[in-house]
Amino acid sequence: MKLTIIKETVAGEVRVAATPETVKKMVGLGHTMTIEASAGLAAGFTDEAYKDAGAVIAKTPAAALKGSDLLLKVRGPSDAETKKLAEGLSVVALMDPFSLDPSGLNSRKITALSMEFTPRITRAQSMDALSSQSNLAGYRAVIEGATLYGRALPMMMTAAGTIAPAKVFVMGAGVAGLQAIATARRLGAVVTATDVRPAAKEQVASLGAKFIAVEDEEFKEAETAGGYAKQMSEEYQKKQAELVASHIAKQDIVVTTALIPGRPAPVLVTEEMVQSMRPGSVIVDMAVTQGGNCPLSRADEVVDVDGVKVAGFSNLPAHLPADASSLYAKNLLAFLPLITAEDGSLNLDTDDEIVTAMLLTRNGETVNERLTS
Ligand code: NAI
Repeated sequence: MKLTIIKETVAGEVRVAATPETVKKMVGLGHTMTIEASAGLAAGFTDEAYKDAGAVIAKTPAAALKGSDLLLKVRGPSDAETKKLAEGLSVVALMDPFSLDPSGLNSRKITALSMEFTPRITRAQSMDALSSQSNLAGYRAVIEGATLYGRALPMMMTAAGTIAPAKVFVMGAGVAGLQAIATARRLGAVVTATDVRPAAKEQVASLGAKFIAVEDEEFKEAETAGGYAKQMSEEYQKKQAELVASHIAKQDIVVTTALIPGRPAPVLVTEEMVQSMRPGSVIVDMAVTQGGNCPLSRADEVVDVDGVKVAGFSNLPAHLPADASSLYAKNLLAFLPLITAEDGSLNLDTDDEIVTAMLLTRNGETVNERLTS
């Protein structure tokens, strides 16, 4: 089939959906790869490198899309982009399904598959873009936090005196949180973490961090079959907030990663808690685009609250565009066989639970039950 990669149009989106490595593999599988000129440049991949890997370089998105069977993207196409797609084209991307208005896609009969809806089953692990990107984002959140923090993270014993290690608190110990814990530990910080899922307790401990949470009956049942957090009761949130409040006051860097799929992020760090921290402390809110775990965070801003820096980054994977693109492109490469027929043509196997879980729109209709029910 003919696969197309175009340059991302969302501001600050410097990732790209294919790398020379994945292009070579896709061409090896018999596909044709057409890439818009300079699509990978911001991630460090030159047109020359793509060409050497077997891609055809097209000057414009329209030229790249001519005769295409499948468009691979990082972000789902914008309304303006969708209008320019050929009717019936298939697209695989991070579609942002819960915020998506599918009417534009449906009016052009676009088949859209959402990488966010990759089910969390063993067979789909290599395709799980949420995990690959969250892992890098968790690492980068700590690096950004450490940069904003006016002190060192590790304990240092020098002739001029001793520097105490920084205290880092990670809220939400999923994929991003666990990587944040590991990164902060590597940098020498004293790390604590919290989560509402009981399974997180052991994982936190195995990384050498201390687990802090209200472990009542509700906590013991707070995980869905898919491994995600459930929305917690108001009563639980209150108890958790009390426990966290006294802890946060003593922390130097707080990284918040708590998300509940399809819902606004839970508020975990209140204005009062921010004010209880000492000046120079840092909060990195990784949930800022879903409303934020801290009501004071603003996307792509560092808000100063009496000397406490509250940072919100809307796209942390894009701070590591080469690695983020490499892993995302490999997720797409791993997914491709599921929508390829034996003769190499595009064929959506709707009996495959991975394909049905990811399929959002087809033939002018929204077909995903997570969006229609
Ligand atoms: P996520 O990005 O949806 O949420 C981040 C974390 O925030 C989660 O650990 C969640 O429990 C936590 N959280 C939600 N509300 C909270 C609150 N009020 N207070 C504190 N923490 C809160 O989750 P993510 O990272 O995408 O995945 C969660 C889990 O899913 C993983 O840790 C893993 O166990 C599982 N998973 C399974 C995979 C597989 O089987 N293939 C692949 C990836 C993840």
